[in-house]
Amino acid sequence: MTVRASRAYAAIIGCGRTKFSELWDDSMSDLMLDSLISALKTADIEFKDIEAMFVGNFIAAKIIDQGLVAGELAQSLGTHIPIFRLEGACASAGLAFYNACLGIKSGKFDIVAVTGVEKMTDRGEIVTDALAAAASNWERFYGNTFPGLYANIMARHMYEYGTTREQLAMVSVKNHQHAINNKFAQYPFPIKIDSVLKSPLVADPIRLLDCSPVSDGASSVILCNPEIAKRYTETPVYVTGAGAATDALALFAREDFTGLTATKLAAQQAFTEAKIEQKDVNILELHDCFTIEEVTALEDMKFVEKGEGGPFIGEAVDSFKGSKHIVYPCLSGEIVVNCGGGLKADGHPVGATGSRQICELWEQLVGIAGKKQVDLDTDLTTGVAHNIGGTGGVGSVHVLQI
Ligand code: COA
Repeated sequence: MTVRASRAYAAIIGCGRTKFSELWDDSMSDLMLDSLISALKTADIEFKDIEAMFVGNFIAAKIIDQGLVAGELAQSLGTHIPIFRLEGACASAGLAFYNACLGIKSGKFDIVAVTGVEKMTDRGEIVTDALAAAASNWERFYGNTFPGLYANIMARHMYEYGTTREQLAMVSVKNHQHAINNKFAQYPFPIKIDSVLKSPLVADPIRLLDCSPVSDGASSVILCNPEIAKRYTETPVYVTGAGAATDALALFAREDFTGLTATKLAAQQAFTEAKIEQKDVNILELHDCFTIEEVTALEDMKFVEKGEGGPFIGEAVDSFKGSKHIVYPCLSGEIVVNCGGGLKADGHPVGATGSRQICELWEQLVGIAGKKQVDLDTDLTTGVAHNIGGTGGVGSVHVLQI
C-alpha cells in the first residue's frame, strides 16, 4: 500500500448522480436509487456489498412530509443495514461524507455508500420558508430569506473591500461556462456579465443570476477501506483530509461576516491532515450558493488575500480566451474552480450538493469527466470540496488525492 493510501480515511471507488432540475416525475426514493445504482455500477459492486449508508438531506420533512429518510430508503432497497441521516442544511451531504469516512477509518465498516438527496420543486410556494429553517429565529422574525442573508454578506464585502458588481457577476459567468459540457446540469448554457447585472433584483445587491437555483436531485459515492481499494479499481481516489466546523447560527452573532469561520477552520484541518498547501490543489469545488460565497471561500481558504477575491476573479475571467474552463492563476500554479458549473449552474438540491461535489472531483481525478474534463499543464492529483450549511453555521472541507 502506498503512503498516501495508508494514511487516508477512505478510498472512493465509484460515484453516480442524477440530473439536477425540476424532476416532478421522480420521487425522493427514485432519485436516491437512481444515483446509488449508477454509483454501484461505476464501482462494479452490488448493493449486498454495502454495509452501511450515510444520507444527506435537509428539508424532506417540510417539502414532502417525510422525516424518516433512512426508513424510506431502507424500504425502497429492502434492506436492514444501518442508515444514518445527517442534517447540516446545504452541507448535509458534506457531513454525511465526513461521517462515512470516520465509519471506514474506525474499522467498523469496509464498504459504505453516501447518498445526498433533495426534492425542492414540488412545493415551490414554501421552499423559501423551508430553507429559512437554517437561519436564526431573529433573522426570520425580521423577514430575512437566504438570498437576503447573503445579500448582507455581499453588501458588506463590497463596502469593506471595494468588490464590484461586475466581479461578482463574473463568478456566475464562469460557472455557467463550466456547465456547458455537463449533461446533468440544470442550466448548461453560457451567460454574459450584462445579463447578470440586468437580471431581476432578488435582495439588493443580489440578482437572480447571482443565485443558485431551486432543484431536485441526488448523488451517491461509494467508499471503501483504502487497504482493499485496489481489489475494486486501478484508480482509487483517497480521502486524505477531512475537516468540519461550526459557527454561530446568526450573522449578527459573529464579529465579522465578510468571511466564514467554519470554512477557515474546516479547511485548516483538512489541509493539515492531508499535508498539502494551497499551491498543491488543482481542482476545487466551492459552495457558490450565491456569487459572493465563491469570493469569500477563496479568501477564507487562503487561495487569495482577504479582500482580493474580487479582482482575482475579474482578472481570470478577463483573460479567458475561450476554451472549456476559466482557469484561476493561483499562487505558483493554476486551479479550476467548480469544474461542472458549481451550485449556480449545475444546480443546488441542497441535501445532494456535498456528495455531488465529491462525484465531480472523483470523475476529474480519475480522468473520466468526458467533455468537461479539466485540461491543465500539470496532472490532476489533488481536489478539494467545500460545503457550507446556512450562512456558515456548519461547514466541511475534504481533500481528495489520486
Ligand atoms: N439561475 C438562473 N435562472 C434561474 C434561476 C437561477 N438561480 N432561478 C430561476 N431561474 C429561471 C427559471 O428557469 C425561469 O426561467 P424561464 O422563465 O425561462 O422558465 C425563470 O428564471 C423564473 O423562474 P422562477 O422559478 O419563477 O424563479 P423564482 O423567482 O421563483 O426563483 C430565485 C428565483 C433566485 C428566488 C430562486 O432560484 C432561489 O430562491 N434561489 C436561491 C435558493 C437558495 O436560497 N438556496 C439555498 C442557498 S443557501
